[in-house]
Amino acid sequence: MTSKEIRQKYLNFFKERGHAVVPSASLIPENDSSSLFISSGMQPLVPYLAGENHPEGKRLVNSQKCFRSGDIEEVGDNRHNTFFEMLGNWSFGDYFKKEQLRWLFEFLVKEVGLDPKRIYVTVYSGNKKIGVEKDSESVEIWQELFKEAGVEAKDYDNAEEKGIRDGRIFYYGDEKNWWSRSGKPADMPVGEIGGPDSEIFYDLGTDLKKHENSKWKDKPCHVNCDCGRFIEIGNSVFIQYKKTKDGFEQLKQKNVDFGGGLERVTMVSQNEDNVFETDLFENILNKIEELSGGKKYREHTRAFEVIADHLKGACFLMGDDKGITPSNVDQGYIVRRLIRRAVRFGRELGINNIGWTKDVAEIVINDYKEIYAELEKNKKFILSETEKEEKKFQKTLKKGLKEFTAIAKIIQVKVKIISGEDVFKLYQSYGFPIEMTEELATEKGLRVDSAGFKKELEKHQELSRTASAGKFKGGLADSSEKTTRLHTAAHLLLEALRRVLGEHVYQRGSNITAERLRFDFNHDGKLSDQEKQKVEDMVNEQISKKLDVTTQEMNLEEAKKQGATGIFTSKYGEKVKVYIIGKDEHIFSREICGGPHVENISNLGKFKIKKEKSSSAGVRRIKAVLEFS
Ligand code: SER
Repeated sequence: MTSKEIRQKYLNFFKERGHAVVPSASLIPENDSSSLFISSGMQPLVPYLAGENHPEGKRLVNSQKCFRSGDIEEVGDNRHNTFFEMLGNWSFGDYFKKEQLRWLFEFLVKEVGLDPKRIYVTVYSGNKKIGVEKDSESVEIWQELFKEAGVEAKDYDNAEEKGIRDGRIFYYGDEKNWWSRSGKPADMPVGEIGGPDSEIFYDLGTDLKKHENSKWKDKPCHVNCDCGRFIEIGNSVFIQYKKTKDGFEQLKQKNVDFGGGLERVTMVSQNEDNVFETDLFENILNKIEELSGGKKYREHTRAFEVIADHLKGACFLMGDDKGITPSNVDQGYIVRRLIRRAVRFGRELGINNIGWTKDVAEIVINDYKEIYAELEKNKKFILSETEKEEKKFQKTLKKGLKEFTAIAKIIQVKVKIISGEDVFKLYQSYGFPIEMTEELATEKGLRVDSAGFKKELEKHQELSRTASAGKFKGGLADSSEKTTRLHTAAHLLLEALRRVLGEHVYQRGSNITAERLRFDFNHDGKLSDQEKQKVEDMVNEQISKKLDVTTQEMNLEEAKKQGATGIFTSKYGEKVKVYIIGKDEHIFSREICGGPHVENISNLGKFKIKKEKSSSAGVRRIKAVLEFS
């Protein structure tokens, strides 16, 4: 079965079971400054899992674009991707374990055609300290399902020490069978939601002798040992708890959050043991073979995988409707790293013709444009940014590698640590992201002084990039009072910009913390002092009118007809939530948005624009605050 068929079958299967099919959200989180990227299907849905009403109802299904920058260096092991699609279905306080596990099993076995004898599952072993029991309910459901499929299903504890034995269902603890955006219960910040989960694995076959050849060979093989025999293909999370100051409390509803990697489901359905061997990478790998003058993927798997994965990821980040430009900060830095790392591995394959990354990008766009129309829409931008970034780096790469070799030679003998100054030099003069220097160093058995590098960077007054790029640090998509106010202020700001600068203005992204609002919008050229003043005054004038904020649910066509602004990632016919500021003839703004917002804008204080500057070509960035005297 092709990936396209699987994606469609999955959506249909859950549609037939009462789920609304919703489009993938943008890869860039909205109003959530706690992470750089959307890395799971549930992330844009957190408010609804926590209890807000979703306009499309209590059952949703989609295929969500995800990006995990934490996996950049994992790529090359046959099963990790930075960019991937997560098939997801959700119940917001509607159906629960019984339906979820049955439907999932049915989908995988009957629709995808997987062999039930090769399916293994895990469940939560419980944790007395947080008052959550062993998940015997899921075990019973799984046992029944396996029985119906004619497969014996014994459940065992302690697989890490005793192996899988003749078991089918295994209990694991907080580390493996609890899911939240920040991991196990102990790592969750107050306010974060999560719960026990049940993972589903596929047996790629003992004949592969994976375990005997792995670094785990002295330990028993079990589904989570990562030797390569088993691969996780999906995870049903039963989100029902919220972390509090003193432990956990039950959410007001019991939710299901299922996520399954399309790449992996496709891989096992095609009876492969490698995500790169699926149709999702075929054309891309062929192109790389061609560019390298006929080198074979099977003989250079790591380099091929890095290039294929990274250029695909970069394409999706640049091609997002909130398109990211390669740069030295935040998401832009990740795109830069992806392209530069691909270029370096391209060199290893002997690809030297300048501009080659663009040719790969073109294949990615072609492969995906039917499903993700934004890639075609933003094609020009993707191709020109890819080319620019590659060229910038190609100019200095050769010299930089020479310089690196020279540095390595000197320190090889004694210190074995590349100094902060040298790392900085490679960064500043040759465009080497520090991670690249680290990687090159590791290959030679050296280390780098990253603290020293940071100091150098600060000394040179560069904006130091987000250190733990992509890691989830904060709590719940922050809905504290301060951010909610700033969120509403962002709606006022967008409308004021449109009235002062013109209707061509639309939002390109926003990032809100408790202290300030950062807002990107498209507009050519700097705003004059007068324009800034006008915008500021207009927002403050509305605040002084003490307007109410209300919401209405309608379908997308209706919202557009009423002139609502917003990032239109929604599909035709889909129901959306529109936030309206003001009433009747005093309506100031209508914007499609998930919320939350203040109920009345009287308490927004005084709106002040702190800064206005360029963010990328054709995109301006405003930093603004609300002042309370
Ligand atoms: N949130 C869960 C995961 O990412 C399931 O969707 O695994």
